[in-house]
Amino acid sequence: MASARLYFIFLLFQLPFYLHLSIAQNNGTVPVGATLTAGTNSSTWLSPSGDFAFGFRQVDEENNTNDLFLLSIFYSNIPAKTVVWYTDNKDQNPAVPRGSQVKLTADHGLVLNDPQGKQVWSSEIDIGTVAVGHMNDTGNFVLASSSSSKLWDSFSNPSDTLLPGQTMETKQGLFSRKSETNFSRGRFQFRLLKDGNLVLNIANLPTGDAYDAYYISGTYDPANSSNSGYRVMFNESGYMYILRRNGGRFDLTTESVVPAADFYYRATLNFDGVFAQYFYPKNGNENWSVAWSEPENICVNIGGEMGSGACGFNSICSLDSDRRPKCACPKGYSLLDENDRYGSCKPDFELSCWGGGQGYKKELFDFHELQLTNWHLSDSERFRPYNEVQCKNSCLSDCFCAAVIFQDDCCWFKKLPLSNGMTDGRLTSKAFMKYKNKGDDPPSVPRPPDPEDKKKRKMMNATGSVLLGSSVFVNFALVCAFGLSFFFIYKKKWIRNSPGDGTIETNLPCFSYKELEEATDNFKEEVGRGSFGIVYKGVILTTRTSTTAVAVKKLDRVFQDGEKEFKNEVVVIGQTHHKNLVRLLGFCDEGQNRLLVYEFLNNGTLASFLFGNLKPSWNLRTNIAFQIARGLLYLHEDCSAQIIHCDIKPQNILLDDYYNARISDFGLAKLLTLNQSKAIRTAIRGTKGYVAPEWFRNSTITAKVDVYSFGVLLLEIISCRKSFDIEMGEEYAILTDWAFDCYRNEKLDDLVEGDMEALNDIKCVEKLVMVSIWCIQEDPSLRPTMKKVLQMLEGVVEVSLPPNPYPFSSSMG
Ligand SMILES: *[C@@H]1O[C@H](CO)[C@@H](O)[C@H](O)[C@H]1NC(C)=O
Ligand SMILES: *[C@@H]1O[C@H](CO)[C@@H](O)[C@H](O)[C@H]1NC(C)=O
Ligand SMILES: *[C@@H]1O[C@H](CO)[C@@H](O)[C@H](O)[C@H]1NC(C)=O
Ligand SMILES: *[C@@H]1O[C@H](CO)[C@@H](O)[C@H](O)[C@H]1NC(C)=O
Ligand SMILES: *[C@@H]1O[C@H](CO)[C@@H](O)[C@H](O)[C@H]1NC(C)=O
Ligand SMILES: *[C@@H]1O[C@H](CO)[C@@H](O)[C@H](O)[C@H]1NC(C)=O
Ligand SMILES: *[C@@H]1O[C@H](CO)[C@@H](O)[C@H](O)[C@H]1NC(C)=O
Ligand SMILES: *[C@@H]1O[C@H](CO)[C@@H](O)[C@H](O)[C@H]1NC(C)=O
Repeated sequence: MASARLYFIFLLFQLPFYLHLSIAQNNGTVPVGATLTAGTNSSTWLSPSGDFAFGFRQVDEENNTNDLFLLSIFYSNIPAKTVVWYTDNKDQNPAVPRGSQVKLTADHGLVLNDPQGKQVWSSEIDIGTVAVGHMNDTGNFVLASSSSSKLWDSFSNPSDTLLPGQTMETKQGLFSRKSETNFSRGRFQFRLLKDGNLVLNIANLPTGDAYDAYYISGTYDPANSSNSGYRVMFNESGYMYILRRNGGRFDLTTESVVPAADFYYRATLNFDGVFAQYFYPKNGNENWSVAWSEPENICVNIGGEMGSGACGFNSICSLDSDRRPKCACPKGYSLLDENDRYGSCKPDFELSCWGGGQGYKKELFDFHELQLTNWHLSDSERFRPYNEVQCKNSCLSDCFCAAVIFQDDCCWFKKLPLSNGMTDGRLTSKAFMKYKNKGDDPPSVPRPPDPEDKKKRKMMNATGSVLLGSSVFVNFALVCAFGLSFFFIYKKKWIRNSPGDGTIETNLPCFSYKELEEATDNFKEEVGRGSFGIVYKGVILTTRTSTTAVAVKKLDRVFQDGEKEFKNEVVVIGQTHHKNLVRLLGFCDEGQNRLLVYEFLNNGTLASFLFGNLKPSWNLRTNIAFQIARGLLYLHEDCSAQIIHCDIKPQNILLDDYYNARISDFGLAKLLTLNQSKAIRTAIRGTKGYVAPEWFRNSTITAKVDVYSFGVLLLEIISCRKSFDIEMGEEYAILTDWAFDCYRNEKLDDLVEGDMEALNDIKCVEKLVMVSIWCIQEDPSLRPTMKKVLQMLEGVVEVSLPPNPYPFSSSMG
């Protein structure tokens, strides 16, 4: 009864539509002589089911001021009207103006004319006469002769998409479009080579010359050609594979897919070079979902000496969700074409060697550190052994040097244009990018070209190249002069402030108490309070004309032991240099008054960041976790003497201008333990929730206590909640217990409830939780070292299944 009524209603609604279809070609047949005209409500040739339409589709560019249309095949039943085929053309934009017309002719098949009647494209039938066209339900548009033999079809002339039922033979391929909405040819290609390999590569646009592949299927067997591939299949059930000559298969779709009866499938070479198979529920109203994609990391996988990489020249590629690339210009650079975010970046300043030493003024340049960035090629020089300061200074003095990479004792110069710029979490090198930092202007704002400079440039244009040779010498002289004066300023300060006994082998300035009193305006502004003392904001003079903000920590415990140990420890702390540690700039040691002067960081503590009202993004949080791990690893393994922090907690992690995590207060535990190991135990125990169990026993304290605290901190970063929060209710109050329960019961969603980004990245959440559980093992010997922790976080080593962290005491807490 109910179903009958439903059917009746269905008929009622569908009736006008049904009538309309039966008048038009509802069996998909298109007679010779039929035409379509590009316009707002222009009609289309539908396939029998209505799934696919052949016709003009308005190009939905953000700002389609040109009123362009694309002759294409698209899904007509879904709101996005996704295009699967278009009149791909090597040399011109396939979009045509309103009023253009396509006609099905007997001798040329499809012919597309612009409004003036000039032919812009045709289907080029080699032999035979077209009797009929047919828009098939598979999405294939077929031209057939009167004897029903196929003369042309869109499946054999693909643009950037393959559909189920479509095959691709050797020497065929797909070309990407320029951007999501610009259908001109882009740089990327998907081809089945003659040898049987399926590849993705960049091509040089005007000539189509292919550069090195960034994905290779490996279906070429030089020893036995019958094992090589010869055809790419996309079968009707939605599986893609390469057929081998011996009948075998190489699966591209490696996991089972949703049923093709209920879903649309397509496989598209995206404009950004990522090839992906998508699915979409028929009659649904959502987005295309990805079944699989290649390559794994386009930013890293594209290499080769030719071309700019995944993004344009001077641009930096980072991997976004769905393995898609994101491109960004570094500081001091901006897009060459404002509308092309994936294109090249140009420097907003002149980086040239005009006029020998005069046109290039190194004083006007500075460096901006780029996190986890490298350009694998573009090297111009290599210096070894060099330290970081030498590396940067020599680049500053070289008018050709655009950026440097520094690692261990090695310094690479990079030249413009920079290619293959990318970020990679596994990098351990440092990248510094040169930019013009004139006066007090904020360097991130693109500056209009200086008219003075322009004039000068014009005048020097003619003589520039001749003078180039001398610039090296001039620059060398400048480096020496600069280096000497630098040394003098610091030497002077050091000598003046040195307390006289000369035991401190450091150039850390030693301040007098009075100086720091002045610097902090008599300890007026308190910015933090820790277990070791109170922190005040202050300002110190670095040179005669410039000042810098500092954080001055007044240690509140009196050290029984002599000056010497205090200084020795300060020296150790002063020698630590790592981008994820807060730097010690100086100290004061006058009897009872012992103070430490640190750099001041603007963005407060991780605690206020994590537990504030706004949840920071998942990406930022995972980055911060990695950075803390790197900082700790440095303290544990890379310092001249191992430093155990002993008090890792979010209040002791500070954030710099770019929200990089910086560990503070390291080394203080050692300072205090010199003669007070009892006291330190009490002090540390005060910090509930982060404390490794061995603090409560009388066992030795090792670096593993930091690993424990890091595990707790990592859970806080994942869940954005405090390690101990009684308001959550008894069952959830202790984060480590709750997290382990969530993990054990496979309910990790609960940990990141409401955090869409994390939920979408649940594999990573799982990995991080597993690492945390390893870190919070009650038995210190089971906890990994920070090195292992970092390797697990970065995916260098697999994370094995963690055991129950509480094997000894079932009632912790
Ligand atoms: C499709 O319909 C047209 C008339 O609308 C008819 O002439 C043609 O024979 C039909 N073709 C098929 C294959 O049914
Ligand atoms: C196109 O069709 C829509 C709805 O069918 C109608 O509102 C609109 O006026 C039409 N536009 C033109 C230019 O015919
Ligand atoms: C389209 O572009 C023109 C000029 O390029 C601009 O004035 C106009 O505001 C833009 N319109 C929209 C809707 O973006
Ligand atoms: C439509 O495609 C199917 C599957 O490839 C094929 O069997 C059928 O003959 C095609 N119809 C026409 C009219 O080409
Ligand atoms: C599309 O890209 C081509 C090639 O880069 C460019 O020449 C053309 O202006 C672009 N079209 C639009 C409408 O932006
Ligand atoms: C090539 O491989 C096929 C099986 O894949 C095997 O039957 C054939 O003997 C091999 N030919 C040679 C020359 O090894
Ligand atoms: C497509 O390939 C899959 C996997 O190889 C297979 O299970 C399925 O039966 C194939 N479908 C068709 C229509 O051939
Ligand atoms: C589809 O994607 C758009 C843009 O990426 C997003 O704003 C929208 O929420 C998505 N819709 C669904 C149903 O996922």
